[in-house]
Amino acid sequence: MYDIAQLDVPPLRRVAGTVRLPGSKSISNRVLLLAGLAEGRTEIHDLLDSDDTRVMLQALRRLGCGIATDGGLTTVTGIGGSLRHLRAPLALHLGNAGTAMRPLAAALALLATRDGGEIELSGVARMHERPIGDLVDALRQLGAQIDYLDHDGFPPLRIRAGGALHTERPIRVRGDVSSQFLSALLLALPLVSGGGGPITVEVDGELISRPYVELTLALLQRFGITVQHQDLQRFVIPAGSRYRAPARIHVEGDASSASYFIAAGAIAAVEAPLRIEGVGLDSIQGDIRFIDAARAMGAQVTGGASWIEVRRGAWPLAATTLDCNHMPDAAMTLAAMALYAEGRTRLTRIGSWRVKETDRIAAMAAELRKLGASVVDGADFIEVEPPASPGAWRRATLHTYDDHRMAMCLSLAAFNPLLGARVAVRLLDPRCVGKTFPEYFETLFGVAQTDAADIPVIAVDGPTASGKGTLAAEVAARLGWHQLDSGALYRATALAAMRAGVASSDVDALERLAAGLALRFDGDRAYLDGVDVSAALRHEAVGALASHVSALPAVRQALHARQLSFRRVPGLVADGRDMGTVVFPDATLKVFLTASAAMRAERRHKQLMAKGISAKLDALRADLEARDVRDMQRAVSPLKPAQDALLLDNSSLTVEQSADRVLQWWNERSAFD
Ligand code: DC
Repeated sequence: MYDIAQLDVPPLRRVAGTVRLPGSKSISNRVLLLAGLAEGRTEIHDLLDSDDTRVMLQALRRLGCGIATDGGLTTVTGIGGSLRHLRAPLALHLGNAGTAMRPLAAALALLATRDGGEIELSGVARMHERPIGDLVDALRQLGAQIDYLDHDGFPPLRIRAGGALHTERPIRVRGDVSSQFLSALLLALPLVSGGGGPITVEVDGELISRPYVELTLALLQRFGITVQHQDLQRFVIPAGSRYRAPARIHVEGDASSASYFIAAGAIAAVEAPLRIEGVGLDSIQGDIRFIDAARAMGAQVTGGASWIEVRRGAWPLAATTLDCNHMPDAAMTLAAMALYAEGRTRLTRIGSWRVKETDRIAAMAAELRKLGASVVDGADFIEVEPPASPGAWRRATLHTYDDHRMAMCLSLAAFNPLLGARVAVRLLDPRCVGKTFPEYFETLFGVAQTDAADIPVIAVDGPTASGKGTLAAEVAARLGWHQLDSGALYRATALAAMRAGVASSDVDALERLAAGLALRFDGDRAYLDGVDVSAALRHEAVGALASHVSALPAVRQALHARQLSFRRVPGLVADGRDMGTVVFPDATLKVFLTASAAMRAERRHKQLMAKGISAKLDALRADLEARDVRDMQRAVSPLKPAQDALLLDNSSLTVEQSADRVLQWWNERSAFD
């Protein structure tokens, strides 16, 4: 996950390849709730692992469910539809997960009324602004005792025992604010249908987001409960219903998450389709109908049972006017696609956007305007027209409002080169995608491509022991970029030569070794021929031979293309001798460290002492000074700052302070609005 403060997405030009979707949030949290309340064990395959499902899992554990995870398999042992085992009041914190708050409130309120128990439900500040009054009203009709602990109509709530259950009269619930209220009741009522007759639920007013209610009914069916209904307005839960754990259940990929890649394919899969695996055309998720909307805007979509392929059809996309009541979440992606459409796209009946993770109508309007789009927004609609010309696109810093869908939608603005613009997009707080799709950006960057010149590079150089590798790693981590430790390539060539018994004078053999090096990096580990050589690369003897082989022009040439290949979306921090001069002369920012030999000797001395190796400070310093002279005077790639490098004396700076400085320079250079 990109656990960083800001993510700069460079201008993107193509998508190609295959993405695998994480499990559906809506299915995952419903299945967890059902399995947690059922009697017996349910094996859940491909459960989504995200903030919202973790919230639900934690709540179930606290309620006494048994939960075991093993790779892609989660096994839940349910509490058998009873709270009688709860001995003390319980407080559950549910983050910002509406799919946990609403159904848990309903299920626990009914169970506490029947079995006793006291439970507080709370969440983050935004959760306490998201309405729940219509659900509480319905539960109170049933006899549940529920107190608002803060503001009427909103969490936090306290559920108490005390009332008597009245399930004989039809229960009325409003359906026009959130369909989750109805879904929550439908999931909870079978728990208390054992005593009397059937239970009837009637929807007051219009029901929004109907496919989510259909999803609830389909999953209830999997747990042994058939709910009769008339056009989703009147529902009957049969008397004596009991959840039956279905032994095993498979969670399909998230259709809402698919929408970002369907959009990316419609915009940027020009030569070959983008393949999306995990969800297919016959998905039970309502958001799969996003495909129809994407097709109407120009996408070419084919698919099977658990895959979809998308490529660009019409270009620019066709503007659309669409009633989005049935797919409020995926509809946000259409607002982002509208950036690439000819004319004005109008999305209507999206009033529920205002009570989601953030006020999504206001948020979307504000951020798309920052990019240069013209936007009109009203109580329950939004209209988007793309920037008027390529030059009207602005290099914007975009807020994501702690809303995963805002972050994922806005990332699609980076494909602006396909309309002739060329601006990067800065997304603040990208980690909010963790709510439903923690690996979203890794997945996007795995299939997105662009021209090398558009991928930013920060080059870091400096004399030996100046800490350039450490600084480069810190800067790369903070920006979420790739890192190239170019010295490791020379060290690996030296190590390979030592292992193969190649003489240091055999230039041809060294060149061949360098060209064919089977070297792979994974985080801070390096693998040569599949074996972890991270420690071996740091040996003195390897360093000494590396210093020799790196002076051979043939070896440098042999490693050149490999170094260029590290320049991948979203960016690269490269450290080493000639990064800013020879390999990436067009680097956006070049930093040259200039700590004094005395200071560097002191640092190295401390390091050695910490490892229990004794060393003389004076000798270390003399050594470093001699090496500086050698490095500066050598004929091939001598040590010297690139002409346009910024000098950074890090003698009295910590790594964090040095990185702060580099990031400050980067922010000045990158000039986002
Ligand atoms: O930075 P380091 O100690 O890991 O580098 C190993 C050797 O390779 C060292 O002698 C410097 C040399 N080198 C180079 O010539 N060009 C680079 N881009 C990186 C390192």
